Formats: sequence, structure tokens, C-alpha cells
Amino acid sequence: MTPIPATLVRPAAGPEPAATPALAAALARTAELDALIAASPASFTILTGDRPTGPLHVGHYFGTLAARVRLQQAGVRLFVLIADYQVLTDRADAGELSARVDGMIADYLATGIDPRTATIFAHSAVPALNQLIVPFLSLVSVSELERNPTVKDEIKTSGQTTVNGLMLSYPVHQAADILSCKANLVPVGKDQLPHLELARSIARRFNERYARGAAFFPVPDPLLSAAPQLLGIDGRKMSKSRGNAIALSATTDQTAVLIRRAKTDSRRDISYEPEARPEVSSLVLLAALCQDRAPADLAAEIGSGGAAELKRVVTESVNEFLRPIRARRAEYAADVGYLRQVLHAGNVAARQIAERTLAEVRSAMGTLYE
Ligand code: TRP
Repeated sequence: MTPIPATLVRPAAGPEPAATPALAAALARTAELDALIAASPASFTILTGDRPTGPLHVGHYFGTLAARVRLQQAGVRLFVLIADYQVLTDRADAGELSARVDGMIADYLATGIDPRTATIFAHSAVPALNQLIVPFLSLVSVSELERNPTVKDEIKTSGQTTVNGLMLSYPVHQAADILSCKANLVPVGKDQLPHLELARSIARRFNERYARGAAFFPVPDPLLSAAPQLLGIDGRKMSKSRGNAIALSATTDQTAVLIRRAKTDSRRDISYEPEARPEVSSLVLLAALCQDRAPADLAAEIGSGGAAELKRVVTESVNEFLRPIRARRAEYAADVGYLRQVLHAGNVAARQIAERTLAEVRSAMGTLYE
């Protein structure tokens, strides 16, 4: 198999300005963490996850996958969760999950996540993880769950008329994901910060109530992506389930068609102005990330070439950048037996770790009677 590209890009563009105190704190902490990780990678355990609602796309790649691979290569212990139970927050079509899960594992492996050292596993296969939700639910208030801005947003976007209990409580599930393997680092986008805050509260409250203030659970830190968010071709947030994303698994032709349809604006020249021209700037950024160069320079170069030239450059850059990833992905996708073997091994490892954590939790809570 072809080796992973050495240039696992640190995005050329800086992070967006801090909008809230929580975000500002997370950004400052991320800079500190970068130094701590470089000095002592083995003292960090990462857990990240994705809902298997569709194929992973370029937004995932530059937002989180590249960082996961970079951190894994630096020696950080990596758990990657396929959050299949979380799919049920806003849809009932669990039936299509197995093909999506296979595709997601192929995406992970193709982008360079190495199953020899990373643990790739699924919610539904780890009962001890799910059992942690029970004591954790007792540590949060209903109003805390109801005011989570990301959950509120998701309820609104999904257009649900009734909200199921899992939707409201999935951030607690997410705390169980993280704490089941005692992860202390969670690479996230801004939208996940409220969930991380809750996981941190649960860890602290558990430690106070059941461990006399000892560090039973680590209080996990968010590690914010340095890449500004890429928009979908319709100008809204790029999302696996909205049909507005360039999937890692798309063909070169599908990629060209999608980019041709991408929303731009009525100005003739091309510039990089994320605030004033979000759609054009997102396209410029995507090409710049693929070419590992500054978006403003790339925009200046295209200049009066206009939207047509911009789209040509974006299509070529994306297809060129993804070529080796897509070639590896095709090899993995053709071997479903191997994909399942990777998941099985990950599930076995995650079960062992979560069972140990649950036994410790029961002991700390005094609920081990046998
Ligand atoms: N909520 C995350 C998403 O929608 C997926 C997820 C589930 C996750 N459990 C997690 C992310 C734990 C980080 C940590 O993308």
C-alpha cells in the first residue's frame, strides 16, 4: 500500500476570531496543549467519533482526520468511535448502517489511521460503555441538557416535531464514550464545545462525589481544529447527510459536477474575504488547503479569472490531493472482510478497556456486591 503523504497539512489559514469566552479559552488551551503533546505524546489519549450518517468528506479531512493521523504518528494513543447509537437521535433508518460503517472504516484507513495502534470501534458493540450512562445521567440536570446550544440547533435543523430522549441525552452518552477509555484529549470543532463542557463537568462531579476529589476520571480537554470550517457547495455547513459535501470517496467526475454547482457570488474577481464572501472564500480555502498554501495568495493569483477559473482550480486541486487517498480507499473498500476484522479487533479492545473502567466505577460507587 502507498504510504501516507508526509505533508499532513497544518492549515495555512489561522483560526477564526474567538466569539465566546469558552471558545477563547479552548483556543488558548489548544496552543498550550500543542506544546505539551509535542513534549510528551504518550501521556495523551484521544477519543474522537463520527456518526455514520454518510461518507466522510473534505471538511472532515481538513477539520479532524488529518489531525488525528498527525497525532497518532506523534505517538498519542488514539480511539476512533463509530457513533452508531447517536444516529438514532434524529433518524430511525438504522437499516443502512452496516454499509455506512464499512465505508467509514475504509475512509479512516485510507486517510492514514493505523489500526495497529489505533482502536476503531462502535457504540453498539461495547455494553460497558453504554452502562456508564446510567450513573452519569444522575450527575446532570435536566435544564443543563435542555439548554445545550448544539442540541437545540440539531433539533431545529432536523425539523423534528417530537424530540426523543436520546437526542436530549446524547451529550451524556458522549461523556461515556470519552471517559470509558479515560481519554484526556478530544479533537473537536466549535460546535462540539458544549458537549465537551458537559463531559468535563461529569468527570469533575464523579470525582468529587465518588472519589473524594481524586483524579479518578481525567477532565478531558478539547483540542480545537486550526482549520476554519469549510462550507458545503450550497453555502451551508458541509454535512454528510445534506448532499452538499465532497466525499473522500467521490469520483473525479462527481467532484467536478459538485464543484461546478457550487454557490458563488456576483462579483467578477476572486478574493479571500471569509466574512464578506463566505462561499467564494470557502472554495478558495479548499483549494489552498489541498495545495498547502495561503488562501489569499491563491485568490490573488486567480483574480480576474472569476468563478469559472476558481472552480477549475478547486476541482483540479481536490482531485489531485485526494488521488492517493482514493486509490487506497478503493483497495480497502474492495475487502469488506478486512474492514470487519479491523472493527472486530477494535471492538474487542474497547470492550476490555470499558469493562475495566466500569468495574472501577462500580467499586468507587460501592455497587460491586458479588
Ligand atoms: N457528536 C459527534 C458528531 O456528531 C460524534 C461523537 C460521538 C463524538 N461521540 C463522540 C465526538 C465523542 C467526540 C467525542 O460528530
